[in-house]
Amino acid sequence: MNQDQLKQLVAQAARDEVLQLPAGQVLGVGTGSTVNCFIDAIAPHKSHFAGTVSSSNASTERLLKHGFTVLDPNDVVQLPVYVDGADEIDPQGNMIKGGGGALTREKIIASIANQFLCICDASKQVPILGHFPLPVEVMPMACAIVTREMEKIGGKVTLRLQKNTREDLNQTPSQPFITDNGGWILEVSGLSITNPPALEVQINQIAGVLTVGIFAKEKADVLLVSNSTGVERII
Ligand code: 5RP
Repeated sequence: MNQDQLKQLVAQAARDEVLQLPAGQVLGVGTGSTVNCFIDAIAPHKSHFAGTVSSSNASTERLLKHGFTVLDPNDVVQLPVYVDGADEIDPQGNMIKGGGGALTREKIIASIANQFLCICDASKQVPILGHFPLPVEVMPMACAIVTREMEKIGGKVTLRLQKNTREDLNQTPSQPFITDNGGWILEVSGLSITNPPALEVQINQIAGVLTVGIFAKEKADVLLVSNSTGVERII
């Protein structure tokens, strides 16, 4: 089975899971290629949900295309479940997220959910977080300041750049990637994240950091993982 098929498989398992919710609930929806499969999988069942809350412009667009109602998070007090992927997840459910750049809105929506349902394939499971470069969303004016702070804790920092468009495939990209919030993303490698809750708090306290991609406070409550033999519930 290839990775796309594994994403489809775990997305279908998550669909079956959320369809167990009583009808008329609002669903929290994450961002990324696995979540895209999930959105497509629940689309035929949209009348089961009163609406959705979305963690990115990309997911909002996809949800609206399928005819879902997308609500403003300010109008929602609590969600029964938030479904999202991860870039890495450890055995306790701590995650690195933000590979798609949506970490700030993802963390906000996860914070109002009773349950974080994480969906991924087995390649995302790690014993200790930190092989995947840690995304840190920053205010552009604080980019150099936060970079220096991250270097002090042993990180090697690069600024995420926009992907080349078809027209400039031969050019070196030089424009920073800009998030839905107007932030920039620092990618920090070389960290072995043995204490995710502590490092999340420490990095959050640096002035200019909007969000760090460690999800320890908002860790996964339920983890569905697909591999070539099917989908396993790990947590
Ligand atoms: C986006 C995220 C995604 O959940 C994460 O990058 C996983 O994406 P994919 O399902 O495409 O592997 O955190 O900001």
